[in-house]
Amino acid sequence: MAIEGPVAIILAAGQGKRMKSDRAKVLHEVCGRSMISYVVDAARGAGARTIVVVVGYAAEQLYDALDGEPDIRFAVQSEQLGTGHAVKVCRPLLEGYEGPVMVLVGDEPLLRPEPLADLFDRQRREGASCLLGTAEVGDPTGFGRILRDSAGRFLRIVEERDCTPEERAIREVNPSCYVFELPALWDALDQINTSNAQGEYYLTDAPEQLMRTGGKVLALNVLSADDILGVNTRQHLAQAGAIMQARIQDHWMTEGVSIVDPGNTYIDGRAAIGRDTVVHPFTVITGDVKIGERCKVGPFAHLRPGTVLADGVEVGAFVEVNRSSLGSGTVARHLAYLGDAQVGEGVNVGCGAITANFDGERKHPTTIGDGARIGSNAVLVAPVEVGAGAVVGAGAVVPKGEVPPGATVVGVPARPVKPPAEG
Ligand code: UD1
Ligand code: CA
Repeated sequence: MAIEGPVAIILAAGQGKRMKSDRAKVLHEVCGRSMISYVVDAARGAGARTIVVVVGYAAEQLYDALDGEPDIRFAVQSEQLGTGHAVKVCRPLLEGYEGPVMVLVGDEPLLRPEPLADLFDRQRREGASCLLGTAEVGDPTGFGRILRDSAGRFLRIVEERDCTPEERAIREVNPSCYVFELPALWDALDQINTSNAQGEYYLTDAPEQLMRTGGKVLALNVLSADDILGVNTRQHLAQAGAIMQARIQDHWMTEGVSIVDPGNTYIDGRAAIGRDTVVHPFTVITGDVKIGERCKVGPFAHLRPGTVLADGVEVGAFVEVNRSSLGSGTVARHLAYLGDAQVGEGVNVGCGAITANFDGERKHPTTIGDGARIGSNAVLVAPVEVGAGAVVGAGAVVPKGEVPPGATVVGVPARPVKPPAEG
């Protein structure tokens, strides 16, 4: 099948030893999503039509994680001989493709699409055989440094381990965001060798090699320090998480959501929140949660994957909602658990009421009709269906089955209350 360009290559074959993990490094999560999924999105957002992921360590885990994404291909690097070698293993897959290829690394989850799109654009306009995005950082530790001549023209990249003390002080660094022109890159990679401190094939030698054979190479300082945070340790993972969390919250605040205490709120990157909703402190929202407009969430609410709150819902202190939807105007203000529940509109879920959705083997659903009232400390033993307008008394244990619409049930096990005698 012909390769559709532009192409992006994402390097992800390394183990990430310093993570001390059985998981592939790039599958560690930042705000609920794997690092590599952000890089894939950034590459797509920059315009890449085909994305080649270079896998090696724990390759199976990456196949599973990126399964079914039609624009993703895999290239296997069975031995990690360096970043230059990692790009080289993509050659058979890209045979016949001529044009731009962006090379990124899978452990930089904060990359944003806009500056990368800029790189593609500039490479095309300049007709460069290599364009590298650079960034100026406060602390360059761990990065390759960008060397320029006295006129500011790019000379080469020097890896930290190979730096002289003067070079080490340079604060313009290589974030590993390149656009190369194919097939020129293949020739350059054939020329590079392993004469460096790590005895590896360095991709960072390719730009200099291209210049040697007359290629136009430009280094553009278009990336910001926040964009290029590379995750090599659990500490870096936490730093990336904090920056990403701030971005997510900033986005929702811009969209009209109030977040009372951003430092003590956690919102998953996949969640969506409607305007005029207020999120109170110590709220944790994980997964693809959808929250409508004018809701009140928290303090201390835990909304888990599959939660859908319609407009005007209130979910208060120590309420956990999981795989459940709550209709508009429904209120669960304190100490409740709703799991696998479809709750209608205008329902009142009392303090301490729960769905007992797990029988030890399987999960079962609960439905609660519009306008029902579930009393304090009630237990609904799923599968259970509470009809519209029904009332469940405080402390009642409703066994599997149905509470008819409009009925009132009380006790353990819950039984209908006899309607008062007429007359
Ligand atoms: C690399 C760059 C450095 C840059 C830094 C930050 C080189 C030689 N150095 O160093 O200039 O500042 O990234 O972006 O490129 N990988 C493979 N196969 C390999 C080796 C690495 O797929 O054989 C992958 C890793 O999984 C990782 C990425 O390439 O995702 C970068 O490798 P890493 O070892 O982290 O490179 P750095 O030492 O950070
Ligand atoms: Ca790295």
